[in-house]
Amino acid sequence: MILVTGAGGKTGQAVVRALAGRGESVRGLVRHESQVQTLWTMGAVEVCQADMTDELALIEVMAGVRAVYHICPNMHPDELAIGEKLIAAANRHTVSHLVYHSVLHPQTRDMPHHWQKNQVEEKLFASGIPYTILQPTAYMQNILAGWERIIREGVLTNPYPVTTRLSLVDLNDVAEVAATVLTEPGHLYATYELVGTRPHAQSEIAAILGRVLGRLVRAQETPLAMWKKQMQATLSPYALDTLLKMFHYYTRNGLEGNSTVLSLLLSRPPTALETFFERIKSAVRRLPI
Ligand SMILES: NC(=O)c1ccc[n+]([C@@H]2O[C@H](COP(=O)([O-])OP(=O)(O)OC[C@H]3O[C@@H](n4cnc5c(N)ncnc54)[C@H](OP(=O)(O)O)[C@@H]3O)[C@@H](O)[C@H]2O)c1
Repeated sequence: MILVTGAGGKTGQAVVRALAGRGESVRGLVRHESQVQTLWTMGAVEVCQADMTDELALIEVMAGVRAVYHICPNMHPDELAIGEKLIAAANRHTVSHLVYHSVLHPQTRDMPHHWQKNQVEEKLFASGIPYTILQPTAYMQNILAGWERIIREGVLTNPYPVTTRLSLVDLNDVAEVAATVLTEPGHLYATYELVGTRPHAQSEIAAILGRVLGRLVRAQETPLAMWKKQMQATLSPYALDTLLKMFHYYTRNGLEGNSTVLSLLLSRPPTALETFFERIKSAVRRLPI
């Protein structure tokens, strides 16, 4: 049995689907009742409702588990504390492999959610548990949050300059690697950067979108102050502050990575942006109107 934490989120669902697709028995940890049905649909054989900040609950859900794939909730202020509790719970059982879903460049102190992941990685080194660390860059799927505006108005908006260069990765490629490291030998004590593309400026991404969609798409920067005003009612103070720090960091440095490691792990080239957008375009076309 493999436990996947954060299973109800977008990363969790992709990982559960990839593991179930390889015939693995998966126990998904979700927070809300409303996520249980989704997990059955993804192929989980067991679904537990628990709060990741509750160490006793973590000990309970790890009973009989051979491996854990840990996905911390996005922008959680207690990511380090959750990581520590999860490691302590795994040590109470005989978990033989703990895979941690980290992020590209966790060493970056200027981005609190990256830095918390760096500290969890350090705890893993000292945990005595055989581990694997996956460090994905930003997902291509993040672009889908603005899909309607891209289609309707031909505008790709981001709260950073159109010249900002990001290397992206298809979440499905990340999930495939998650399933590989959990089911095939040779990945204990490894740390892998998971990067699918060379760094692309936002204006380049808009041009690729334009080619795939057959219409003009332009990149546009939303001023940070405006973005903050639009988002502050819906985000927690930690998430708002962390995202603002991330956008400042992106503006200064971008997020640039190299896809060689991912190609080796997939035994094929990672999904290109064009291919990803083509997939989304045909999936949207198949949706009932
Ligand atoms: N997005 C990216 O580009 C990217 C790239 C690299 C790494 N990552 C990392 O990937 C991780 C997951 O991101 P994601 O976008 O998949 O997250 P997500 O979709 O927000 O999923 C997080 C899940 O955790 C659940 N959750 C929240 N608080 C919880 C708690 N206290 N106990 C149990 N479950 C809880 C959420 O449930 P509710 O729906 O109830 O809140 C949600 O189902 C994050 O650590 C992020 O930093 C993301």
